[in-house]
Amino acid sequence: MKPLTLTNNAQSDSDKRNQEKLVAAGELPRHIAIIMDGNGRWAQTKGNIRIHGHKAGVDSVRDITESCAQLGVEHLTLYAFSTENWNRPSAEVNGLMKLLVASLRDEAENLHENNIRFSTIGQIERLPVNCQKKIQEVTDLTKDNDRLQLCLALSYSGRWDITEAVKKLAVEVRNGNINPEDIDDSLISSHLSTADIPDPDLIIRTSGEFRISNFLLWQLAYSELYITKTYWPDFKRDELYEAIKSFQKRDRRYGEVKKGYTKAISSTVINQIIS
Ligand code: FPP
Repeated sequence: MKPLTLTNNAQSDSDKRNQEKLVAAGELPRHIAIIMDGNGRWAQTKGNIRIHGHKAGVDSVRDITESCAQLGVEHLTLYAFSTENWNRPSAEVNGLMKLLVASLRDEAENLHENNIRFSTIGQIERLPVNCQKKIQEVTDLTKDNDRLQLCLALSYSGRWDITEAVKKLAVEVRNGNINPEDIDDSLISSHLSTADIPDPDLIIRTSGEFRISNFLLWQLAYSELYITKTYWPDFKRDELYEAIKSFQKRDRRYGEVKKGYTKAISSTVINQIIS
């Protein structure tokens, strides 16, 4: 497989070694989701206006995408523009849309040559027409690629996603295709915008906020959370490796007890304890 060149930097030997160690150390997350936060504050700390932070954030998108593909992560979902972000000043919204079109224009061939599949979730029809066209173009160009799936959440919110799923299910009930009793976890999952991809194993939030901010509300039920104070434009691959190392140390129990916990306790003992 040809070396990945999204960043146009040859991969250093020390980075290759770091990646090899990480792969050997334990299971990698199949799906990493990221709330990219802190662009505005990053710019302000440098005495610049917020759009500088968003522009610098694109370099982090490139570096994190490249390193995920090199590592063998299968899915990377980035929260690039939330439903609530429409309420920002129109100059910032327009700037973000222009940045999106310019980034997709600059990166399309590069993504394709590196076998990366591009996709989006969210209310894409709310984006300006030129954005929609660019998104469609890059989605079509890369649709058969299978190295890493890079998904941008644009005009997205978790509540919107769930609401849409509920509407589709209601129509299916009304049309007699399913009964209300048929509705379970997996049927709901299969009606979300992420139906074709596994739930995130690891969710990273930059800039130190302890919130999910209406991101993949249903899909994050059992994701491992990693929060860093680093602002998104400073979040690069070395910190991604720290997040993955932290993930590899977690004991994922999915609400059950730790594997190997076999101590049998009789119900008489339990009744004595709680009475
Ligand atoms: C959050 O920082 C970031 C965003 C709302 C936009 C994210 C966009 C990018 C990284 C660049 C464009 C992306 C692509 C994929 C082309 P913030 O503005 O909320 O920062 P703050 O919390 O410091 O105000």
